Amino acid sequence: MKIWAHRGASGYAPENTLEAFVLAVEMGADGVELDVQMSRDGHLVVVHDERIDRVSDGSGFVRDYTLKELKGYLFNRTHPEYADARIPTLQEVYELLKETSLCVNVELKTGIYMYDGLEERVLELTRRMGMEERVIYSSFNHYSVKKIKELKPDARTGILYSDGIFHAAAYAESIGADALHPAVYNLQYPGVMEAARERGLKVHVWTVNTEEERLMCLEAGVDVIISNYPDRMRGRCKALTIS
Ligand code: G3P
Ligand code: MG
Repeated sequence: MKIWAHRGASGYAPENTLEAFVLAVEMGADGVELDVQMSRDGHLVVVHDERIDRVSDGSGFVRDYTLKELKGYLFNRTHPEYADARIPTLQEVYELLKETSLCVNVELKTGIYMYDGLEERVLELTRRMGMEERVIYSSFNHYSVKKIKELKPDARTGILYSDGIFHAAAYAESIGADALHPAVYNLQYPGVMEAARERGLKVHVWTVNTEEERLMCLEAGVDVIISNYPDRMRGRCKALTIS
C-alpha cells in the first residue's frame, strides 16, 4: 500500500506549498496529491479553494489575481511558523519533484469554475517537464476527467467522489478512467474493491489520517492511501510488514 501526501505533508506545513512537498519527500512518501486552479493570467497555481482567504493573508478569488499578485501574499495561514510560504505554480512543484521518484496526483479543481483550457495546459506542462510517467490526474468534475482522456488517451486518471456512487467501478469504466479515488468511508459499501479489480481499476483512497482508517484500507487491499500525515502512515506500514 503506497502513501501519497495530501496537499503535501499538510498536517505539518501549509497545504499545497513547496514547504509541504519538501516535507513529504523527507518523510518518505511515495507521492503527493495537490490541487490546481488557474490565475487570471492563465498560470496553473497549486491551491485548494477557489478563494485564497482560508490559507493566505489575502482575500478573494484565485481567478481574479495574476500570478504576480498571488505571489505577493503569504500562504501560511494554517501554519504561521512557515514565515514565507507562498503559492506555488504547478511547474515549480514539478521542478521540485522531478529529481525524486515520487508520483504526482494532480487534482483538477474545475468543479465550480471550469477554467478555460486548464486541462490542455496541465497536459502540456506535464509533457514539457517530462513528468508524464509520474502523474495521475483526478477530479470531482468527471467532465474534466473525460476531457483529459480525450486529449490524451494514455494519461492516467481517477474519478474523485465523496458519497456512495452506485456501481462506481462500472461508471468509472464508462468514462475510461483508470482508478477510483473514493473518500475512505466508501470502503464500507459492498463490493467496491471486487468491482474495481474486475475492471482492472486502481483504488486510491482519501483522506486517511487515523489508525482505524489506515487498517480499513490495508484490510480492503487498496493501492494508495492519501494522508495529511505520511510519516505516521509509513511508520505503521513498515512495522506491520516486519511483524
Ligand atoms: O484528491 C483527494 C482529495 O484531495 C480530494 O478532496 O477537497 O481535499 O481536494 P479535497
Ligand atoms: Mg485535493
